[in-house]
Amino acid sequence: MIGIFTALFLIKLVSGFDTNLPYSAFNECKEYRVDGQYVYKDSFNIHGLKNNRPYDNEVFRMKFYVLTDRDANIMISNERKVQNNDNAYEIVIGGWNNTKSTIRKNKFSVEVVEKLGSVLSALYPTEIVISLKQDGELTVILPGYERPYLNFKDTKASAWTYLGFSSWENTPARWFYDCPLGIDGPGGNDINTIFANIDIRVSN
Ligand SMILES: *[C@@H]1O[C@H](CO)[C@@H](O)[C@H](O)[C@H]1NC(C)=O
Repeated sequence: MIGIFTALFLIKLVSGFDTNLPYSAFNECKEYRVDGQYVYKDSFNIHGLKNNRPYDNEVFRMKFYVLTDRDANIMISNERKVQNNDNAYEIVIGGWNNTKSTIRKNKFSVEVVEKLGSVLSALYPTEIVISLKQDGELTVILPGYERPYLNFKDTKASAWTYLGFSSWENTPARWFYDCPLGIDGPGGNDINTIFANIDIRVSN
């Protein structure tokens, strides 16, 4: 069993995204489609998501999958319709035509962290886990890439209410959100959770 787990893990590391991910991985997620537009049309209350499972020292911890060529944008804010000057975190995964990922402190403002790399595909879902600690540390994990992928410690901590998604001109995206955290959340280190996760992957 551990051998199978290791093998799957290595496949993930080599390819970046998980080309073996079964469709059943999305069964318990909610789906949201974004037109090819840099607009955050809808917002979701983070604290109303059933699979938001923060650790004790965290405000939130959520898992997503996205299918798109470029610009998978996540907005965390206290506004239903975020304007450029509103307090927010904007996470850009695979921006600049899938060459760079960043965290910004407001919509479309300067990057506070950035990393070069190609991490998106229209064919294979990119798995994304984001968490925020109560002390203001925002972490983006892309399982299958180096951990953490992006990390930003804000000078002042804040509570956040809304989550939103957007894309870029002419590049639609298919998001899966409110996904179970599995081994990336509380309880994930417990051996039963690890074996349950292996069974899901192997049976497909
Ligand atoms: C974006 O990247 C793709 C794949 O590398 C490339 O074919 C395309 O020309 C690029 N588009 C732009 C606008 O740079």
